[in-house]
Amino acid sequence: MKEPTKIIAAGRPRKRPHHPVNPPVERASTYLFPTYDDYADGGKNIVYGRLGGPTHRALEDAIAAIEGGVETRLAPSGLQAVNAALLAFVRAGDKLLVADTAYDPTRKFCERFLARFGVETIFYDPMIGAKIDALITPEVKAVFAESPGSLTFEVQDIPAIAKAARAKGARLIVDNTWSAGIHFKPLAAGAHVSVQAGTKYHSGHSDCLIGSISSADEETAKLVFHALLQLGANVSADDAYLTLRGLRTLSARMPVHEANGLALAKFLARRAEVAAVLHPAIRGAAGHAIWKRDFSGASGLFGAVLHPVSKPALKTFFNSLRHFGMGFSWGGFESLCIHTHPENNRSATAWTRSGPVLRIHAGLEHVDDLVEDLERAFAAMKAVRS
Ligand SMILES: Cc1ncc(COP(=O)(O)O)c(C=O)c1O
Repeated sequence: MKEPTKIIAAGRPRKRPHHPVNPPVERASTYLFPTYDDYADGGKNIVYGRLGGPTHRALEDAIAAIEGGVETRLAPSGLQAVNAALLAFVRAGDKLLVADTAYDPTRKFCERFLARFGVETIFYDPMIGAKIDALITPEVKAVFAESPGSLTFEVQDIPAIAKAARAKGARLIVDNTWSAGIHFKPLAAGAHVSVQAGTKYHSGHSDCLIGSISSADEETAKLVFHALLQLGANVSADDAYLTLRGLRTLSARMPVHEANGLALAKFLARRAEVAAVLHPAIRGAAGHAIWKRDFSGASGLFGAVLHPVSKPALKTFFNSLRHFGMGFSWGGFESLCIHTHPENNRSATAWTRSGPVLRIHAGLEHVDDLVEDLERAFAAMKAVRS
């Protein structure tokens, strides 16, 4: 099956006559076992609400089909999917390698939470590639990659990192949210785990929080399952339903995000106000050659660095935008633009550019309106500056 067909077909059990197209929302804490033997057996698949019901299973199956995993489990947010994946593989005394460009709350979970339980995190340069081998000491039990990285969009050499991790018995976890699982397949590239913040492209409508963890093999899947189980992670059936509903149109939405993102990136690259565009598909971006080799396309999220401007001018730029909202998250149908601060969350590498950094999410609006919006905001910014 081709990918768009898989996304439509996966997770749609046809068990009963007159079944609806979409698996209905099944809300339950308690599932009743029909007989004592069923109860004593513990149930094979659906046992208790916290472990998910049919709505959750349908979504998990669909994501597993996209990511190419043996099993996918849901988490209540993308961040908890990251955290549970990390917790699955480490214990006190272990070390973790984490990309310096990881999403800041991922970083804080390592620095502020795991550190309290005796797990040390070493941050590494996202462009390290095969040289990561030198950092994988016997205490390193997991390597965490996020490709492209948050805010600055460096593309990592996942096949090389996976090879080095596997050679030393460490597990590789990849935050694959940017590609939505469509444009990059970390598990096929050698990673053990692919994490999605389903909050973004999978749900696609900016109205729910959810995460997923897809595993490459049964042993990894078991450790992930136990981590989620012991954390008491729970996803509402409503959010699983909304995400599955969003997922069905993923392969129709992604090309528009990609085309709009590329058009905006090219527009920005031509603007005098812009010092650099941070888009993996644009030549000159960190890891562009790796992106070309490993990815089948781009999503709509990228960065741009402006030449230094005064605070009032920058405020005017943002306040003049009509179609770009200012809000956290991304991956929804709407465009967003925020001011970010990569210099605040880097330790293995330095962010040396001095101008303001924008993070832009290209939504599904007509691109002409988005370009016009940016033109207007730049004009307003110029008026303040002069
Ligand atoms: C790359 C990445 N991973 C994980 C997350 C966390 O997802 P959530 O907001 O669902 O916890 C985010 C959120 O912005 C993200 O950008």
